[in-house]
Amino acid sequence: MKSTASAPGKIILFGEHFVVYGSGAILCAIDRRITVTAEETMEKKIHIISEIGSLKAEPGIPACDVDCILRPLYHLADTALRSHGIPGIKVTVKSEIPAGMGLGSSSACCVAGAAAVSGLFSDYSREEILHLAVNAERTIFEDTSGADCTVCTHGGIIRYGVDGHEKIDAGQNLGIIVASSGATHSTKSVVAKVKRFRNANPAEFSGMCDAESDIIRDVKELLEQGDIAQLGKKANQNQRYLEAIGVTNQTLQEMVRIGQGASAGAKITGAGGGGCVFALTDGGPAAADAFREGGYECFAAGIDSDGLIVFN
Ligand code: MEV
Repeated sequence: MKSTASAPGKIILFGEHFVVYGSGAILCAIDRRITVTAEETMEKKIHIISEIGSLKAEPGIPACDVDCILRPLYHLADTALRSHGIPGIKVTVKSEIPAGMGLGSSSACCVAGAAAVSGLFSDYSREEILHLAVNAERTIFEDTSGADCTVCTHGGIIRYGVDGHEKIDAGQNLGIIVASSGATHSTKSVVAKVKRFRNANPAEFSGMCDAESDIIRDVKELLEQGDIAQLGKKANQNQRYLEAIGVTNQTLQEMVRIGQGASAGAKITGAGGGGCVFALTDGGPAAADAFREGGYECFAAGIDSDGLIVFN
């Protein structure tokens, strides 16, 4: 028996890092996907095959002893084996999302992996898959806010907060140019760095969390109105807070300045420390041209409205 599922990558439009502390975030699923196929096997092994690494191991190994990148998939397969008493599972991953670039490869893999593995046994709701995916992601990054897995599951543009999530119907004119710094990052270590900043500067950090909550509230309306100029200003404001908490670097700074000079606004997306920035446009080519002239690869991100797709 085989089961296949696919989930989109994401960008965080507003609120990364501050969402970990309850300020909320606005995220967008993008038109690049990860597809995971799970297969029951007679061999008593968990076998994972992906472009970023492979693993063939006995079931029942403690999670901390499993190669970090593949740990969430191992965890999903091992949990399923224990509950359903089958000998082994083979998991194959095909990805269009570059790993470690802040574009949601890990979350999309957890969501598609949770759906593919659980689809071997039964039909699960999106909320159940999301729950399994967030638990799997916690095996590598225990402080995750859950925002990334949520948008990868539900698709579209969402507001995510402590009160849950809601879809936002954005105007048609929203253009998002994503540019890559070419450097990978570890979300876990950048989040740990922000925690140290917060512990050392509690009042300043709390003030930025409040300001970020205001941005999230305003941006929801601006997206519905399709007000790109104001959205760009909010992106630039959000970027200033990301710079203040220390998640940027010289390359990202330069990229953000290029984006800001050629669009309505630009900022880091995701954890920072490497990864990508995006510029908000009304569809014109100026931002993409400027990134390319600066030597940075970029692409126009389409919004994925499907989220998780289960093929069985
Ligand atoms: C990473 O894509 C987003 C962070 O806000 C962490 C999280 O929300 O779990 C940095």
